[in-house]
Amino acid sequence: MADGSKTAEGAWCGHSRATPAGYMPGFGNDFETESLPGALPVGQNSPQHTAYGLYAEQLSGSPFTAPRGSNERSWLYRIRPSVLHGRGFRKTALPLWRTAPATAEHDRPIGQLRWGPVPIPEEAVDFLTGLRTMTTAGDVNTQVGMAAHIYLATASMEDDYFYNADGELLVVPQLNGLLFFTEFGKIAVEPGEICVIPRGVKFKVTLLNGPSRGYVCENYGAKFTLPNRGPIGANCLANARDFKTPVAAFEDREGGCRLWVKWCGTFHVADIGHSPLDVVAWHGNYAPFKYDLRHYAPVGAVLFDHPDPSIFTVLTAPSETAGTANVDFVIFPERWSVAEHSFRPPWYHMNIMSEFMGLIYGIYDAKPEGFTPGGMSLHNCMLPHGPDKDAYEKATRLELKPVRISNTLAFMFETRFPQHLTRFAAELTTLQADYAECWARLEKRFTGGK
Ligand SMILES: [Fe+2]
Repeated sequence: MADGSKTAEGAWCGHSRATPAGYMPGFGNDFETESLPGALPVGQNSPQHTAYGLYAEQLSGSPFTAPRGSNERSWLYRIRPSVLHGRGFRKTALPLWRTAPATAEHDRPIGQLRWGPVPIPEEAVDFLTGLRTMTTAGDVNTQVGMAAHIYLATASMEDDYFYNADGELLVVPQLNGLLFFTEFGKIAVEPGEICVIPRGVKFKVTLLNGPSRGYVCENYGAKFTLPNRGPIGANCLANARDFKTPVAAFEDREGGCRLWVKWCGTFHVADIGHSPLDVVAWHGNYAPFKYDLRHYAPVGAVLFDHPDPSIFTVLTAPSETAGTANVDFVIFPERWSVAEHSFRPPWYHMNIMSEFMGLIYGIYDAKPEGFTPGGMSLHNCMLPHGPDKDAYEKATRLELKPVRISNTLAFMFETRFPQHLTRFAAELTTLQADYAECWARLEKRFTGGK
């Protein structure tokens, strides 16, 4: 919240400026930006002679022939073309970053699972080396599915740069902020904000204010986009103007650098003699962005019952089947709860989709105990879950006055594919072995028997 503020009641006042310096507003716009005057060619993409001796290069996020509405590409004007950044790779390993399919990493039986926050390590790890995979789903080789990760970063990436050929990265900081210096410019994110780094975009990550922890959804499938609103209409949920894409920024830096690449679950590194973040200007609609989750305008029940949690979808990555997401990013933000004669928490249910949840701050209303900021839960395909005993008791006894659910922000990565636990997740010391006991005290209440 570098330039925002909250009222005493916790209501978000907004930024002092609608779009902070260094960013451009909008979702999926055709942006153009240059960090040196005249660096962008006018009226064409690939002139015979470019300003400042730059190389023109296209980065395609969709097939060339994708329909206009889903066609995404950007033109980058850079000091060196990417072929000078991407030669002479040698294989390397980041063994805790797992990739689907990875279906037989442990012997745990099925079950609802929950973890406490993972402690920040003592040793120096950066965003790459501190990334640990919790679950994988689908198959990276067919570009379907996702992985849920956490990151623990105690050091900045200085000479190391990275791009991911396997998917886009949706980053959800939970403790302290990060600065993503990407080919397209700089994105600073704090807890309460997210950023999305598209597939193939090079970047490095530095710490903003100390050791950082958070969550990452690696989406192997179609890009995240805004969900359709249907009868809700043209406004609310995540509004396009609140997404911020960085203006161009570059490093003209010679010296020893390394470029890391993730490709079909394997890792490769190349020594290069310069920074690959050398894009002086760019235009197009394939670019990273950030979003402040406190700008999300939730829609909910105004009389009784409540909609499915999909009403809180921020971004959706569709699959080929309509309404069946490869992965949805859903939040549970501050809101009023006003429904009459209704059980207000999330109901008991089983779901074909698989739900990985995290808590950024505050208390989640269905689990007032045990689900702590930085923690995680996994409710997999067709495994029952719902409010714990205390939440049930409270919800059934509560006087149904309007209640403001304040100072809370939880989220969910929800995918159509079963999520497979990694060995790291199965053996994590913060795994709460007694999690399912939160339902054990729910007694038989049946009054229709003999
Ligand atoms: Fe659920």
